[in-house]
Amino acid sequence: MTTETQTASRRRASFHNLTVTDVRRLTDDAIEVTFGVPAELAGQYDYLPGQYVALRTTLPDESGEPHEVRRSYSICAEPRSFADGSSEIRVAIKKDLGGLFSTWANAELKAGDVLDVMSPQGAFISRHGKDGSAVQHNVMNSMNHPEELAGEPGNFVAIAAGSGITPVIAIARTLLAANPETTFDLVYANKAAMDVMFLEELADLKDKYPTRLALHHVLSREQRIAPLMTGRIDSEKLQALLSSAIHAEDVDEWFLCGPFELVQLCRDTLAARGVEPEHIRFELFTTGRPDRPEGNAGRPVLADESQDTYKITFTLDGLTGDVASPTHARESILNAALRVRPDVPFACAGGVCGTCRAKLVTGTVTMDENYALEQDELDKGYVLTCQSHPTSEEVTVNFDV
Ligand code: FES
Repeated sequence: MTTETQTASRRRASFHNLTVTDVRRLTDDAIEVTFGVPAELAGQYDYLPGQYVALRTTLPDESGEPHEVRRSYSICAEPRSFADGSSEIRVAIKKDLGGLFSTWANAELKAGDVLDVMSPQGAFISRHGKDGSAVQHNVMNSMNHPEELAGEPGNFVAIAAGSGITPVIAIARTLLAANPETTFDLVYANKAAMDVMFLEELADLKDKYPTRLALHHVLSREQRIAPLMTGRIDSEKLQALLSSAIHAEDVDEWFLCGPFELVQLCRDTLAARGVEPEHIRFELFTTGRPDRPEGNAGRPVLADESQDTYKITFTLDGLTGDVASPTHARESILNAALRVRPDVPFACAGGVCGTCRAKLVTGTVTMDENYALEQDELDKGYVLTCQSHPTSEEVTVNFDV
């Protein structure tokens, strides 16, 4: 990866107040929200197509008490900057069942509101190109001049479900614009036509690239003319799609975005067909998980000197501190660190987004879930602090590297 790509994909997360400049309804239960990024912050909010931002605000919980909520949402537009140096971030927010933030945003959010927005993060980005990043490198240097992009041609396939289209549409637009020989097959699964997000934008993209973009809408609860495009994507349907509808040979990169079951099914199926893992990018839904309330992050843990504790030392923004974590509490490193530094970065708290990544410097940990770190990062000693628990008396991690 080039320095530019690393900077944008693994930059340290920080929050700033950004103003909502537009709210556009996409479907009955989804909106697109645009945040204005002033010129002085534009460098911190540049991004690669496929990345996401975490949003943070305070909302009353069920008991009416104010409660900090954070949710991460994928950026749905290709990078743009304006003549005055300012830029913008667009995200799509789909209402989740029981989702506190997404329900509030769909009902209340309007232009002029101000939210805390984290600098863009995430590794769901194309690595295709000469050195694994040529396309992205060129994109970052030609944000306003797609005609100047000179990415290597490639054949790409994306399988997205529901709001999984959000990062995928940004990736598709960018890669198709980057090279006139690039092809992109998109399978987009929804329950019904009324649930399809970015319907017009996808149709426009198809009009723009009629021979290079193949668009396959699969609806689970609505009859389509082709039986293959009707019903849930299960193993059988996926095999059929790969064998007939999709140009599945010579694919340079696969993008998978949706719920865990679908992404896992696709990964297993592609692996069985001999696709190497390094050609597969995937992202799981991270938002509105009522079973993983972010309120657990930083919850109080009583530690006194009579208890056995782990000593967790961590470096963040150049400052090193430590915190004692009772062994019986089985706290994550993130939770322990948040008790003494509320600015420790996290978003999903579920092992999905990678925002809480840090490098293990000394000691040992066990990690519960990992849907975010790639093997080369694990080999270098990176861990997800929201999922990591100490297994040695002393553990040291560094969030800055
Ligand atoms: S906060 Fe998302 S993986 Fe840890």
